[in-house]
Amino acid sequence: MGMKIKPVIEPDLSISIGKMRLKNPVMTASGTFGYGQEFEHFMDLHQLGAVIPKGISLAPMPGNRPPRIFETNGGILNSIGLQNPGLEVFIKERLPYLKSLKTNLIINFFGNTLQEYSELAQRLNALEGISGLEMNISCPNVKCGGIVFGSDPKMTYRLVSRIKKLTSLPLIVKLTPNVTDIKVIARSAEEGGADAVSLVNTFRAMAINIHTRKPELGNVTGGLSGPAIKPIALRMVWEVFQVIKIPVIGIGGIVKAEDAIEFILAGASAVQIGTANLIHPKTGLEVIEGIRKYLLQYRFPHLQNLIGLLGK
Ligand code: FUM
Repeated sequence: MGMKIKPVIEPDLSISIGKMRLKNPVMTASGTFGYGQEFEHFMDLHQLGAVIPKGISLAPMPGNRPPRIFETNGGILNSIGLQNPGLEVFIKERLPYLKSLKTNLIINFFGNTLQEYSELAQRLNALEGISGLEMNISCPNVKCGGIVFGSDPKMTYRLVSRIKKLTSLPLIVKLTPNVTDIKVIARSAEEGGADAVSLVNTFRAMAINIHTRKPELGNVTGGLSGPAIKPIALRMVWEVFQVIKIPVIGIGGIVKAEDAIEFILAGASAVQIGTANLIHPKTGLEVIEGIRKYLLQYRFPHLQNLIGLLGK
């Protein structure tokens, strides 16, 4: 009699965010992946769980004065200032390619006022080929809008509940870490009807050139991202996971599968790869493969088994 070999059962990496089904939990973080097409020569984009292009506003935005990127130890500072071509140009020049991808397309959007957020949400809702929306209430690089909503629980609630009524698409709310207690804002987003929260956006930060005695960024301050922020982002995901029921999407310095697995153990249902895309564009695909191998190694049949498993 020969030895019986147990068949290897391929783990199921799929996950749901509202009514959106993702084949795996790995997305690209808005603002670090252009409009997808820029990356097509480096990787097979269809393998990603979702693509999230640079955020869009109703009108074009030129962004902040340069320099707008500065590398720090273990991270980068950016003060892009939400530069984008505006909705009309986005629809005409970027959406056709993005729609052709065989993965979920999540549109990141923002406004300066409740009215602007509302109009964008309605217009995006009317378009075809979009799987979900990510509402940015967390940019640290512009004076009004965005973060003004994301720093105040009442305004977060007001905005999210209004937008939720205007769209039938799954709504992810992207949170800022630049608040006293991110749990309070996450709860407001959930109460407002968000289908998920994504966290964290960048940490307000700065750097100084001691020879010119000037700031390294034209905007003086910017947002810090990359491996330097990972432990703080992880702590925030873990805290938020304990106080809300909707899915949490973990973002912050993920450069390898092990980082993503930490976020999932802390409670993230999915993750976004940000700064790593700028260094090694294939990071997302390697993270998917690493999660798959981990599930196989520890014999978890489904990614779901892993979410929030910390200490259990
Ligand atoms: O300045 C920027 O474009 C960054 C946006 C953000 O962090 O949300």
